[in-house]
Amino acid sequence: MSAPPQGAAEDRPLTLRRMTAADVPAVLALEHQLFPSDPWPEAFFYDELAQASPTLPVERATRKYWVAEQQDRIIAYAGMMCVLPLADVQTLAVAAEAQGQGLGGELLGLIEAESRTWGAEDLLLEVRADNPGAQRLYLRNGFEQIHLRRTYYADGGDALIMRKRLAERPAPLGPVGGTS
Ligand SMILES: CC(C)(COP(=O)(O)OP(=O)(O)OC[C@H]1O[C@@H](n2cnc3c(N)ncnc32)[C@H](O)[C@@H]1OP(=O)(O)O)[C@@H](O)C(=O)NCCC(=O)NCCS
Repeated sequence: MSAPPQGAAEDRPLTLRRMTAADVPAVLALEHQLFPSDPWPEAFFYDELAQASPTLPVERATRKYWVAEQQDRIIAYAGMMCVLPLADVQTLAVAAEAQGQGLGGELLGLIEAESRTWGAEDLLLEVRADNPGAQRLYLRNGFEQIHLRRTYYADGGDALIMRKRLAERPAPLGPVGGTS
């Protein structure tokens, strides 16, 4: 009997769930493919997860990490940090064969929603200046560039700092003893 026909990759069910320490080897393999010039070291992922719920009680957690799985294979991951009033996109990555189908945007939306739930006023991120694809994703989702950090990466690459405001700030007060 022949195997059932396989649908297009985007038709296969996708599971989004919290990242655990057991996921780190698979995540690290993707990390090396997707960030070949500056992958996070393995210990960094374990350190991040140690600061995430459910490892820590939710009131002490400052991180949250997710993976997207398709047919028991991790095809994307994302992580955030929140130390009020700021939240940060710590990482966002989608396997090459799964890119361009909206998954990156979905994970970014998840980070934004979680940042709002935690009460963050701004969501910040760093992106390589030579990564226009990721920058397009962020611009399309309401981020703006606020700084350029020169030679930020180990290979000498520059970083753009981007921000999305999540909360309106009160208008600044006028000068004390104004003219009126
Ligand atoms: C950057 C990255 C996370 C984007 O992930 P992604 O899943 O490809 O993102 P999306 O699919 O949401 O959007 C990417 C493109 O696909 C298009 N797209 C989105 N949904 C789509 C769909 N259903 N069908 C077809 N195209 C779609 C978008 O319009 C977008 O096009 P653009 O490049 O012209 O802006 C991914 O490319 C990646 O992991 N890159 C390597 C690591 C990296 O650079 N991470 C970011 C670090 S700051």
